[in-house]
Amino acid sequence: MDQDSLKLKVARAALDIVQPGLESGTVLGIGTGSTANMFIDLLGEVAHLFDGAVASSEASAERLKSHNIPVYDLNAVDRISVYVDGADECNEALQLIKGGGAALTREKIVAAVAKEFICIADESKWVPVLGAFPLPVEVIPMARSHVAREIVKLGGDPILREGVVTDNGNVILDVYNFSIAQPLAMEARINGIVGVVCNGLFALRPADRLLLGTADGVRDLR
Ligand code: 5RP
Repeated sequence: MDQDSLKLKVARAALDIVQPGLESGTVLGIGTGSTANMFIDLLGEVAHLFDGAVASSEASAERLKSHNIPVYDLNAVDRISVYVDGADECNEALQLIKGGGAALTREKIVAAVAKEFICIADESKWVPVLGAFPLPVEVIPMARSHVAREIVKLGGDPILREGVVTDNGNVILDVYNFSIAQPLAMEARINGIVGVVCNGLFALRPADRLLLGTADGVRDLR
């Protein structure tokens, strides 16, 4: 089965889990990327059942609106029941690397507010140790060189993602050759570098549930 078919399967599985809880007053959190897009497209079929969504990117907000799903500012919402999003890597502790689509900061904020975070991913994202995928770090532009030097001290090879400005007006450093044996400590360590807005490790707040699309079906991991 190809990767897109697996993505569609996990998007459908997520909707099957979320749909029974949809009612007037429900606001969902919605992530960014091709897997999240498939979830958004399916969610459009049940748009009449719930109030709307908070999006983790301008791109997802536009896609939600195209399905007539109202999009709310996070500050206007006091509760997000479920956040559904993809990942670039996931491990057995449901810790993730995210930010391949440069939306990591808003993704982490929405995940922090959500009562439950359901991650949807195809099996190519499953790794024993995080870090084969280059770790995205969102950085204030004037701090780019300083942050890069500090990351080199931690053992990584930071490369500026050319031509990318985040929805927050910042730049992305992708950290290569960075095997992350201790995700909790590394997430906190990188966050402590002055000029870092956010890094793509989701270990302090991992997913609560991972729907992993495999050739044998969808694995439901908690
Ligand atoms: C965007 C993300 C995405 O969730 C991640 O890049 C996975 O994307 P896709 O579903 O297209 O494989 O973190 O910032």
